[in-house]
Amino acid sequence: MARRTIGIALNGVTGRMGYRQHLVRSLLAIREQGGLPLRDGTRLWPELVLVGRSESKLREIAERHGLTDWSTDVPAVLARPDVDIYFDSQVTAQREKALRAAIDAGKHIYTEKPIAEDVTTAVDLARLADAAGIKHGVVQDKLFLPGLRKLARLVEGGFFGRILSVRGEFGYWVFEGDWQPAQRPSWNYRAADGGGITVDMFPHWHYVLEQIFGKVTAVTAHVSNHIDKRWDEAGEAYDATADDAAYGIFEIEGGIVAQINSSWAVRVYRDELVEFQVDGTEGSAVAGLRNCRIQHRASTPKPVWNPDLPATEDFRSQWQVVPDNEEFDNGFKAQWELFLRHVVEDAPYSWDLWAGARGVQLAELGLQSAREGRRIEIPEL
Ligand SMILES: NC(=O)c1ccc[n+]([C@@H]2O[C@H](COP(=O)([O-])OP(=O)(O)OC[C@H]3O[C@@H](n4cnc5c(N)ncnc54)[C@H](O)[C@@H]3O)[C@@H](O)[C@H]2O)c1
Repeated sequence: MARRTIGIALNGVTGRMGYRQHLVRSLLAIREQGGLPLRDGTRLWPELVLVGRSESKLREIAERHGLTDWSTDVPAVLARPDVDIYFDSQVTAQREKALRAAIDAGKHIYTEKPIAEDVTTAVDLARLADAAGIKHGVVQDKLFLPGLRKLARLVEGGFFGRILSVRGEFGYWVFEGDWQPAQRPSWNYRAADGGGITVDMFPHWHYVLEQIFGKVTAVTAHVSNHIDKRWDEAGEAYDATADDAAYGIFEIEGGIVAQINSSWAVRVYRDELVEFQVDGTEGSAVAGLRNCRIQHRASTPKPVWNPDLPATEDFRSQWQVVPDNEEFDNGFKAQWELFLRHVVEDAPYSWDLWAGARGVQLAELGLQSAREGRRIEIPEL
């Protein structure tokens, strides 16, 4: 089968997301399946250039995966005519500068969220990208997870009747780093380095809510910095200055209320690291990363409040599992494939820098709401 190549520069590939999800689970996986089949019968073959700060780390990753192209010279890579797409999964604080340079160089842009640290910059990047006539996309991986795909399917199929509310619970205990190493990078816990759970997670909640339920019209948030001392990758103590929990109420068009708790200081008593319960007049669902369970109106029990008696029902067992009914690929890979089709076949693609900017806007207004202790309506961008 004829093969067509597309050059992709990957910056941030030594990091957690860049390496595992984007390089190994997405782009190398696409190569392992012989490239991405296109409509015209050809296969699209990603040619990868690994970009970063450490030559030794890049070389080590390249050699581990049989790749030969890496560079620490970003401007030189952006000047190469065989590089079509610039991908960024660097720490958030480095993103703006890199995206501007890539847009200036006329490359298509695909980037991790959040696309910037503030909404003014995010909008500016989206405008610049549009003006340059390039294609642009932002990672919105949660939408492609099996649990949320099943949830979206229930919404599309009218299962819920009128949707009333969404309750989201996200989080797990991130070790402080003293007696057990932390399982997340330390920059996440330093405000000056672009850390903070609101900036990290509200962009995710924005696209999940917007794409599955409707436009988010207002936010009320409380954020906390529960753990203020942590130990970094070198075992050095540091002041954890960024928020590590955010308790948000999001109003959605049509009267739906979503409450989502996000925390790195919570212990898990759930089936999955994130779960959303959706209640509607006709039925309810609980969706996680992989699974989704439902309870229809007709099979809803009628509990009676009586604290004098032990619970008479096993409530969890009364829910029904939603079947997969299709094969779900890795969410990051699925979105990469859509973006590649958008670039080469002009396939429709709505997860662009404007969508990314709306996510940054929700984080910024959430933080403002917490600071000022008030509900904030979300203006159109
Ligand atoms: N989509 C998701 O679910 C998801 C999950 C986690 C993180 N993210 C986003 O991905 C990005 C990377 O997060 P991560 O968890 O992979 O972080 P990480 O610390 O593991 O990786 C950061 C990468 O940035 C590079 N980098 C460039 N300049 C740097 C600097 N000055 N200081 C430190 N590192 C620098 C590092 O070398 C590394 O390759 C962040 O923007 C984060 O918001 C997205």
